[in-house]
Amino acid sequence: MEELPAYLKKNGLLRPLVVTDPVIAQLDFFKKIISDLKAGGSAVEVFSDIHKNPVKSDVYKGADAYDAAGSDCIIGIGGGAAIDVARAILLRINHREDLFKYDDLIGGDVYVTNDVPHFITIPTTAGTGSEVGRSAIIADDETHQKKILFSPKLLAKIVFADPLLTMDLPAFVTAATGMDALTHNMEAFLAKNYHPICDGIALEGIRLIAGSIEQAVNNPTIGSRSDMLLASMMGAIAFQKGLGVVHSLAHPMSALLDTHHGLANAVNLPYGMQFNIEGSEEKFVRIARALQLPEESGDAVVKYLFELNGRINIPVKLSAVGVETKHIDTLADLAFADFAHPNNPKPVSRNNFKTLYEAAL
Ligand SMILES: NC(=O)c1ccc[n+]([C@@H]2O[C@H](COP(=O)([O-])OP(=O)(O)OC[C@H]3O[C@@H](n4cnc5c(N)ncnc54)[C@H](O)[C@@H]3O)[C@@H](O)[C@H]2O)c1
Ligand SMILES: [Fe+2]
Repeated sequence: MEELPAYLKKNGLLRPLVVTDPVIAQLDFFKKIISDLKAGGSAVEVFSDIHKNPVKSDVYKGADAYDAAGSDCIIGIGGGAAIDVARAILLRINHREDLFKYDDLIGGDVYVTNDVPHFITIPTTAGTGSEVGRSAIIADDETHQKKILFSPKLLAKIVFADPLLTMDLPAFVTAATGMDALTHNMEAFLAKNYHPICDGIALEGIRLIAGSIEQAVNNPTIGSRSDMLLASMMGAIAFQKGLGVVHSLAHPMSALLDTHHGLANAVNLPYGMQFNIEGSEEKFVRIARALQLPEESGDAVVKYLFELNGRINIPVKLSAVGVETKHIDTLADLAFADFAHPNNPKPVSRNNFKTLYEAAL
């Protein structure tokens, strides 16, 4: 983080809009970043008025703050939520039609044609890897339906990935976000598209997480925090190849029940992997090797995931995170409509989703 003020100066950036969430805005490390920037001569404006699962009006307010302050760049500091909002504000500065006109799922990326301001990302969780991503997930204020804004133009110019910022991340957030990163690496490796480069990155990401997640959760060191931060970026790079059934199980839980994205993935991961073994047996052997399991099989990977969740205090049942029988039909409809599972190695039917939710309940 010590390099940030000099970087801004070198690039002639004098008036950054810092986008974060209301929790991080109160933390000591954040206040220090802001005071260091001010001491370095920056006229900093902070925007932190965002929801836990960000919505469109957050983005509009942020763009208004950028205009009002006469900002000349955007710095996203936070977990996936804050960085996604920062990226969506970045888009909105020179693209003023309705935000959801740019929704990638309806081909809206073709309208992202104008330049965007200079964009810097600074992760404070090790999970989504949104800092190295090109997309932002923003929900509709009323329907809570999630839309994806996507464009290569939305890639950060530079990422300041400093494990010191994640040292005080609470154990439960470390566990949930870390399991999101593990899910990215596993689903990307298994995704059916041909992409050996992503496969290699994903396997190394899995190895790093297996060696560091418990330490990062239970007794954090800079080494374990660094490995988790790197592995979360590797997961986000790898999942440019595709995701799968677990993310499709997780997305509707955030939409319907406001469940944290990483937590939803964490609980569903062992069940989704169990579903995926058939037809991907050889790939599971390679995952088992990356996890350094004594037995190299899909069943051993699933057993490891259940036990890992137990060791880092993630529930092993969906009922423990608020899912009830009455939710399952709606969840299954939404999961089947989700964008992630078409890349799953095995086709997933609506009935498969229902069965998976029931098994995990
Ligand atoms: N763009 C993408 O590719 C992508 C991919 C997956 C998920 N997402 C989005 O990312 C979001 C989830 O991101 P996340 O898992 O990083 O969680 P988050 O951003 O919601 O943060 C989780 C919690 O931890 C707190 N926190 C963050 N850093 C902290 C720190 N250093 N110390 C103490 N507390 C801290 C936050 O205030 C928040 O309360 C969701 O909105 C999801 O839709 C985006
Ligand atoms: Fe994810």
